Parts: sequence; C-alpha cells; structure tokens
Amino acid sequence: MDAPPHVLILPFPAQGHVKPMLTLAELLCHAGLHVTFINTDHNHHNLRRSSSAPRPHRLRFASIPGVHRPNITDLFFSVMDNFKPKFRDLVVSMGGPPPTCIIADGIMAVGAVEVGEERGIPVICFRTQSACSTWTYLHLTKLIEDGEIPFSGETMDLPITSIPGLENLFRRRDLPSICRIGDLQNPIFQFFVTQTSAMTRASALILHTFQNLEAAIIAKLGAIFPTIYPIGPLHALLKAQITDHPSPSDSGSLIPQDRSCLTWLDSQPSRSVVYVSFGSLAKLTRGQFLEFLYGLVNSGKPFLWVVRSDLVLEEDRVDETPEELMVATRERGCLVDWAPQEEVLAHWAVGGFLTHSGWNSTVESILAGVPMICWPQIADQQVNSRCASELWRIGVDMKDTCDRSTVEKMVRDLMEDKREEIMKSTAEISRMARDSVEKGGSSHSALEKLIEDIKSMKFGGHVSVSDK
Ligand code: UDX
Repeated sequence: MDAPPHVLILPFPAQGHVKPMLTLAELLCHAGLHVTFINTDHNHHNLRRSSSAPRPHRLRFASIPGVHRPNITDLFFSVMDNFKPKFRDLVVSMGGPPPTCIIADGIMAVGAVEVGEERGIPVICFRTQSACSTWTYLHLTKLIEDGEIPFSGETMDLPITSIPGLENLFRRRDLPSICRIGDLQNPIFQFFVTQTSAMTRASALILHTFQNLEAAIIAKLGAIFPTIYPIGPLHALLKAQITDHPSPSDSGSLIPQDRSCLTWLDSQPSRSVVYVSFGSLAKLTRGQFLEFLYGLVNSGKPFLWVVRSDLVLEEDRVDETPEELMVATRERGCLVDWAPQEEVLAHWAVGGFLTHSGWNSTVESILAGVPMICWPQIADQQVNSRCASELWRIGVDMKDTCDRSTVEKMVRDLMEDKREEIMKSTAEISRMARDSVEKGGSSHSALEKLIEDIKSMKFGGHVSVSDK
C-alpha cells in the first residue's frame, strides 16, 4: 500500500499566520493526510501552553530554533537571515521519503520555494490574507514604475490608479503600510517585494477568503496562479467538518484565552456591546489608549476590550488612568488580556467590533455578522479596512485618526445612526460566508479539491520540479 501523503506546513511565525495555517493542518489530517507543522521553538512552546486541545494523531510538530524575535521588525530580519538554511537542514534531517508537498506561508516563499526546487518538492503558497491585498502586494513594483509610490505624508488622499480592478478604491493611505516607507531600498519593503515575487513561482495559491467575497480579484489572480484555492473562513470550515472538535476556538492561539468575559457578556443586553481588539501585534501610545477609552466611555455603550500586556508601548506604561475613566470602565466595561475571540464575536450581546482590521479578525467578524469600526495600523490592515468600508460596506473606516470625539461618533454611527444600512450588507455577506463552508459551497469544494490534488499530486503550476 502507498504511504499516505505527507504535507509540511510552514507558517510565518506570528499569531495571525500560525492560526489559519494550523486550522488548515487539522483539516488536512481530518481528511487522512499526514502533516508536519513547522513552528519556531518559541511559538511551539506558546501553543502548548495556550491550548490543551488534543491534536489529531496524524499531526506532528517540528520546530526551527533561533528564528524567534520579540519585535515584528526584528522577526522579519531574522526570517531573512536565518530561515532558509535552517529549513533546509530540517527537511534533510527528516529522512525517509520526501514530503508530498510544502504548504508555505506566502511571506516565507523565498526559502520555501528555493528548498522545494532544490529537493524536487512541490510548493503551494498560502497567503493568509485577502485576494485584494494579495493582488495589491503583487503590484508593488508596478506602483513604483507608475510613480504612485513613494509619496509624502501630506498627500495621503490622492487616488491610486495603477492596480487593475481596484482603480477607484484606494487612496494612498489605503495601501499596505510598507508603502508609507519613503525609502524603497528599505529592507522591510524589499522583504515583501522579494517574498511576493518568489510566491509566484509556487505551484498553486491558497487564500483565506471565499469566492463570493472577492470573485473578481480571484479571477485576476488566476492569470498569475493557474490553481487557486479560496478556502475561508477556515475556522468555520473546521467547525463544519470536525463537529466533535474538542476546542476549535483556541486551538491556534499562542496566548491563553480568558473565558471570564463570556460570563460578563451573558449579563449585557442583546447587540449592545462594542468588542475592541487590536490583534496580536498592534501597539498604542498611552495617548491613543486614553483617546480610545474616552471615546468608548463617552459613547455610553458597554465595551469589552482586549488589552494585551504589551498593547501600550513600553515607554508609555507609566501614567495613571484618570479616575473618571476607571469608574466608567468598572460600570460598563470589561478588560481582558486575551479573549476567546471567535466565541465573543458569535455572542448575542456583541453588536459591533472596533478592530485593527487584521485579516483573521475581519473574516471572523464577517462570519459572525458583526459590523466593524476599522483602525488599521500595519501590513494589509489598511487595505482590509478600505475594502470593509467602501467595497463590502460592512464597517466604517477611521484610519489615521483616533481622537475621542471621532471614536465616540464612529461607535454611535455603527451602533445606532448608520446601523440599519450597514447591517443589510453585513448580514448578506455573513450568509455568503456561512454558505461557502457548507457541503457544495465554494470554500468546502476548494478544500476538497486541494486535498484531492495533494493526494494525486496534480497541480496546474509552472515550476514544481517534480512535474518536469
Ligand atoms: C497580523 C495582521 O493584522 C493580519 O492582517 C495579517 O494577515 C497577519 O498578521 P494579527 O495582528 O494577529 O495579524 O491580527 P489578526 O489577523 O486579526 O489575527 C488575530 C487572531 O488572534 C484572530 O484569529 C483572533 O481570533 C485571535 N485573537 C485575537 C484571539 O484569539 N483573542 C484575542 O483576544 C484577540
């Protein structure tokens, strides 16, 4: 009997990447494939500490030492400098027959594709973001050629016209945050240019989106990637396919979740609460933290806020919070270090989400039918917030401002004044997301096709050495 297919899954070592890729790993194991999930030592330790959920017996973990850095910029440098030789050593040290394929994060593509090509292992890239942002990153070089980047900080509202299919959507401020770096030789900017270019050498592309949300841009991506699997929302696929999963919502969490906030939510009126979270990476100055808190308190709405221990910049963690804010927060607020976010968004008491527009948070909010106030900071978040507000009309975008009166107005708009209008599109897109993971739905079918293609090793791709 042939050995079952064995897939190496390689995420970029940060929360927003580990979670969807681990969810995919569990789904592949459920379908009978064997998976080795490659973590950094640091994330492996955190994953074990944060989730006690038993793992599928076909899922193994391997870790690469010495890549972790506490700060995201340093982590990019570390991946650039350390990752490829360590990954090659790991693949060699595994022994036995070579893996069937590598599913590599789109921003780990340089090392993954090169090692895959050297050793004759096909590589599928998984860009854990939207089709719109993937398409945008693929146009970085064209944006430079057309003189659209770099730009100065005073001209942020000028429209961007050189991304086909998105001509009338973005202003300069809506481009990925790296486009704000004035120096195009900056190593972080170059990191994204080279990773994105290497990604196009993969055999196929997986996207964490669903067909009906981004059909037009997925079609455009088809000109670059012969095979695309849009398989989002992955957490919903997991729940639909593994109905006896012991703990679906914390299985990819690198930080222990505090479930006490669910009890607090139980005591709040229906759809009254604003859930606030800025994901795993975003940082606030003390001033921004206070403006958000004033805005929330002044809106009069109850709020549940994820205040990570490192949310406020270290040098700013000094001042006392004004007494009036402490009193109001005790009355109608709940602060936690890290929440069971999927369950929070699905809770009947939650009516809106003040978010940094991380892609996982966006997809989770879409599925739950919760409209968003978007305050993006880094990476693809600027793109996501623009799409949420102007393309899908499921939120309001307050990027680049966070004074207390704007926060208060945005909360009132979302929870009262503009709610009816926003809820129409939010409910419609949520329904499409839920349909996509049902049997016969687009994401369900795309996952089935991915599994079948891995089993039979058929990719439409153009570079996989084993195809030659
Ligand atoms: C970042 C970027 O924001 C994202 O767009 C990019 O694609 C990956 O890197 P992050 O800041 O972590 O990710 O945000 P997000 O993509 O939203 O992921 C956060 C994840 O953590 C979500 O799946 C969310 O459910 C989870 N989470 C968040 C919790 O489990 N508890 C919390 O309290 C907050």
